[in-house]
Amino acid sequence: MRKFTPLLLLLFCLSLSLNVLAAAGIATAHPLATKAGEEILRAGGNAFDAAIAVTAALAVVEPYSSGIGGGGFWLLHRARDGFETMLDGRERAPLKAHRDMYLDEQGNVIDGLSVDGPLSAGIPGVPAALEHLANNYGVLSLKQNLQPAIRYARQGFKVDEHYRRMANFRLKALQASPAAAAIFLDKNKVPDTGYVIRQLDLASALQLMAEKGADGFYKGMFAEKLITGTNQAGGIWSAKDLQQYKVVEREPIRGQYHGMKITSAAPPSSGGIALIEILNQLSAFPLEKMHDSQLTHLVVEAMRRAYRDRAEYLGDPDYVKMPLERLISAEYAAGLRAGIHPQKATPSELLPGVEKNYPGTDTTHFSIIDQQGNRVAATLSINYPFGSCFVPPGTGVLLNDEMDDFSSRPGTPNVYGLVGAEANAIAPGKRMLSSMTPTFLETKDRIAIIGTPGGSRIITMVLLGALVFQQGDDAERIVNLPRFHHQYLPDIIFYETNALAEQTINQLQQMGHQLKASEQSWGNMQLVIKNKADGSITAAADSRGLGAADIIH
Ligand code: GLY
Repeated sequence: MRKFTPLLLLLFCLSLSLNVLAAAGIATAHPLATKAGEEILRAGGNAFDAAIAVTAALAVVEPYSSGIGGGGFWLLHRARDGFETMLDGRERAPLKAHRDMYLDEQGNVIDGLSVDGPLSAGIPGVPAALEHLANNYGVLSLKQNLQPAIRYARQGFKVDEHYRRMANFRLKALQASPAAAAIFLDKNKVPDTGYVIRQLDLASALQLMAEKGADGFYKGMFAEKLITGTNQAGGIWSAKDLQQYKVVEREPIRGQYHGMKITSAAPPSSGGIALIEILNQLSAFPLEKMHDSQLTHLVVEAMRRAYRDRAEYLGDPDYVKMPLERLISAEYAAGLRAGIHPQKATPSELLPGVEKNYPGTDTTHFSIIDQQGNRVAATLSINYPFGSCFVPPGTGVLLNDEMDDFSSRPGTPNVYGLVGAEANAIAPGKRMLSSMTPTFLETKDRIAIIGTPGGSRIITMVLLGALVFQQGDDAERIVNLPRFHHQYLPDIIFYETNALAEQTINQLQQMGHQLKASEQSWGNMQLVIKNKADGSITAAADSRGLGAADIIH
């Protein structure tokens, strides 16, 4: 026995040093949000506390992407027992909403009504989700976790070029809301770089949440201000809308791809279902042996079929029955695969048709793992840049325009005379369909916490990331991977200019694909990877954005 003592001691020291070395990792779309998460981890918070701090900080410093006037999905993994859940803090339609609310008397969609101003806003879910996270998963108080964001709101943050681009894109809509213009513009114009955006009303709103929890937002004087301001400008909110808002914990969607476990967002996000439906179709193809055009063709065909199903079947699980088991089954994937021609594009018009629906393009994602192994992948949104561009006076809360993620005109035949998208029709209290895809990937060696903004392209970005993660690529390569995308309608492969070589483009065209190079890159992926063998962490923020990744020892 004594002979073994030094060995045991050595093993004990080694495991101690691994524990000491165990690191945490954070990747977010803004350096101040990453710092907020780090501050909370260093103060003894876990990944869930850090997620609260990061969510609130992003609401302040990335007002064009997410906010307490918006919603999101937080995918959680608790290390102590392996429990996994998805917090659904998605916005709900106001109770006075109805399916034709964005149509004129002729049944045509009224331009802008579901995008700009208070009528486009769903009932926010972020405040309820933050309280839920703190009460059920964090170890610090909500109050402590909100402190960095309150500080940022009071002290302000500096306008950068990205902010200017976003504000310029939404300038008219921002100018239409005096309270929004006073906060986000400088004398009604896009502020110069370096201009400091201070948000004192937002700081007070966060402070109220710090003192009273979600009730500080959904009840009392503050709620009255939100409702009065919204309705005086043409909105349809009621006290009941705010009082009734509830976060829902949903079972994540799970799948497998060549031994890699996928855990992803459940409806009302389409992300997990579409991601797994695509991977299932691809699983029988030897992609690693294929040349680029063959591989791109097959990936595109699988995307096309999953996006068609997304539009046809998916919506709020509390309102619609969906064939989820079937959509992610191997048998269903085999059927879809059988319809893919190895050398020829399937025109989308030959697949059963559905209404066109192009979700918004601005959102944010962050990924966190703490020293204990708790994980959060969260994708949050107010939909379009600066959401509805409307702030109820005196609240500092920029409202989302997530109502645009509903199908404004379901049931109307598309150009091919076919109908669909009924599952995502507007109804009072219903959650609108999302593409947000916060995801965990796990191979035998590594764990990834991955996600990105990017509207309908979110799912295909996470897909491409998952495919190369499975093949062993590192965090930097994955987030910076050039991207291509197909979403059934329009029937076009969109690609970043460096994603496809000229020869590949020619070959895809010969197969019958239409392609369009995107002038702008898309996405802003945030990724944290844990190596199972030694516990080491790597993290990367997409170089297309301004984000920051950090490892904390
Ligand atoms: N608003 C973007 C999404 O939820 O997909």
